[in-house]
Amino acid sequence: MIVPGVASQEIAAALSVELDEPLAAVEYDRFADGERLVRVPGTDERAVVVASTVSDRAHVELLQLQDAVRQRAEEVVTVLPYMGYARQDEAFETGEPVSARAVARAISTGTDRVVTVNPHESAVCDFFEVPCETVDAAARLADPLPSLSDPLFLSPDAGAVALAETVRDAHGSGETDYFEKHRVSDTEVEIRPSDAATAGRDVVLVDDIVATGSTMSTAIEQLSGPERVFVTCVHPMLAGSARTKLANAGADAVYGTDTVERAVSEVSAAPAIAAAL
Ligand code: R5P
Repeated sequence: MIVPGVASQEIAAALSVELDEPLAAVEYDRFADGERLVRVPGTDERAVVVASTVSDRAHVELLQLQDAVRQRAEEVVTVLPYMGYARQDEAFETGEPVSARAVARAISTGTDRVVTVNPHESAVCDFFEVPCETVDAAARLADPLPSLSDPLFLSPDAGAVALAETVRDAHGSGETDYFEKHRVSDTEVEIRPSDAATAGRDVVLVDDIVATGSTMSTAIEQLSGPERVFVTCVHPMLAGSARTKLANAGADAVYGTDTVERAVSEVSAAPAIAAAL
């Protein structure tokens, strides 16, 4: 039985088709004081809770879903298509928590195993106290691309170049390169141009996540005379005015997967997740 979190209903439905397992019609409710409640109908030997923790609400509801199914299912699997707080994987200043560890520990208490998609650092899996596996959905990002002229697949930093290579390989041909990035603050980054020529070429920017859009919009500004610019990412969080920022910077199109359900979520990570289940 696939049990969808409120923010992961598309990907849960796709997973239900992939695995030919029933989809639970979860009810999401709220008390007058603001506290939330979920109700999970039905029962099955295995419950696969699918919930991107895109908000604090999604975190709380995930814990509730796990607790509700654990009383009836023999095995509980938790799929985090997008794991929130994963980028807080260290205490940046004294007195701060390792937030990724804190949420991983809480999630571990309600499940037998965890599957997550392209976390920012795969080491985040080590924070769970149950077996955790990561899945790579980046290859699907090549699917919506049109035919490209002399393509260059660029990542905004060295850490994401493997994703750019994956998308290039799935597309079939093209050069890869990466920028040098320095994060100044939450919403500001400095980026040094890559060595690759960009004039007259189709450029495909690839990253794990677009959050505020600062990284990608600054990266686009470094390109010199590209023919077209495609912004692709696994997790299209697109907080605040990120989509507008990308449009104003000159992105011709933006594509992401359904790990975060947005208008740009053109491809599904469900087949990659299903293969791990
Ligand atoms: C960090 O290194 C990640 O790979 C992304 O580049 C980053 O999280 C994107 O954030 P934003 O869209 O806020 O610049």
